[in-house]
Amino acid sequence: MLSTITIRGMLNIKHKQRIDTMMEVTFHNREPEIKEVMNILRMKPRLITFMYGPINSGKTELISHLTGELPDEYLPFYVNLRGRFITGYEDFLNVLFEIDEGGAIDNISEYAKSILQDLKIVSGIPIPVNLFEQIFERKDKSKDVFRYIERFFTEVSKKRIPVLIIDELQVIGDMKINGLLVYKLFNFFVRLTKELHLAHVLVVTSDSLFIEQVYSEAMLSGRCRYLLVDDFDYKTTMDFLDKYNFSDAEKKVAWDHCGGKPICLVELVNSEDRKKKINEMFNMSSGRIETELKVVNELGAEITVGNKICDVHYESLIGILREFVERDEITMGEVDEISKRYFVKENILFVDPLYKIIKPQSRLNLLAIRDVMENV
Ligand SMILES: Nc1ncnc2c1ncn2[C@@H]1O[C@H](COP(=O)(O)OP(=O)(O)O)[C@@H](O)[C@H]1O
Ligand SMILES: [Mg+2]
Repeated sequence: MLSTITIRGMLNIKHKQRIDTMMEVTFHNREPEIKEVMNILRMKPRLITFMYGPINSGKTELISHLTGELPDEYLPFYVNLRGRFITGYEDFLNVLFEIDEGGAIDNISEYAKSILQDLKIVSGIPIPVNLFEQIFERKDKSKDVFRYIERFFTEVSKKRIPVLIIDELQVIGDMKINGLLVYKLFNFFVRLTKELHLAHVLVVTSDSLFIEQVYSEAMLSGRCRYLLVDDFDYKTTMDFLDKYNFSDAEKKVAWDHCGGKPICLVELVNSEDRKKKINEMFNMSSGRIETELKVVNELGAEITVGNKICDVHYESLIGILREFVERDEITMGEVDEISKRYFVKENILFVDPLYKIIKPQSRLNLLAIRDVMENV
């Protein structure tokens, strides 16, 4: 039975492929964040933890590293919804569960006990195929899904501490099954943490509109905590660049253009002509922003807020971007809701509801905005 469970370890595979073709970039210091997560994991599960931050700030990488290093007493279940084709509940279940084709089993406790010892990092919650099919055929699937997971975790928790991690949960944010699926999940997460103290639940997202919505959600109030994983700070970035023998001049150019955006720094490590690479990245950013604005200016654009379809106004967009000519970040009160949502959806701005600030998704985007503003 055990051998039929495919433990995909997606993240590690992705990492290894990268190494084959490029210079090896090893995981770089995330000590404060790791410490914070470990402090949470050492406590009894009480709150849902939301890990958020700008795009490509290293959230998934951090989780991948962390789950690989967790002491044996923990059992992480990692589910990444990013890039998965999820159009309905069935698709979601297929991602959430890791189907075990090993044979028919009815007793969930026995099943959990039998596979527990050899499980390491699991992508998806293991379930015997017959139980999965049963759930699939039910009308009210979510009840059975949650009941299964609760029983499974109850058994797991006798030996190890389950840690359920859902990456990019906003992918199913709009999905409705007798009401929004995401709310049913939140209710279930509250049950796993606050009520039963059965499992740690970590929700990871790059979508700042989603985190804003979560933050203002009455149902979740007092039931979750938030953990920002931002780009590297200055010192961490310098240490990173030192590892790959950047000269002082190269370090300065890298910081001035990429800030501490890990993906951008990795690109530089792997490029033969770093100046050229930076130019390319910068041109791509500013070209993209320029095109987005041109489209809105010439064709207009609409955005849905709740049930309302709202017009995006070119002049408002320009007014907001102009604020970034002199400053790196602005406050929530300085933007109108429609423009804010437009910029977040287009991955140009990042909204931090906790610190109540709005800033470009990256240093590169900030510079690109300034460049574009010179010509409008
Ligand atoms: N701590 C780190 N050390 C080295 N490289 C990192 C680190 N964090 C992120 N990266 C690089 O940046 C890329 C983007 O990070 P990722 O975790 O996918 O971002 P996010 O999940 O926040 O969008 C990774 O594929 C990796 O190449
Ligand atoms: Mg990610």
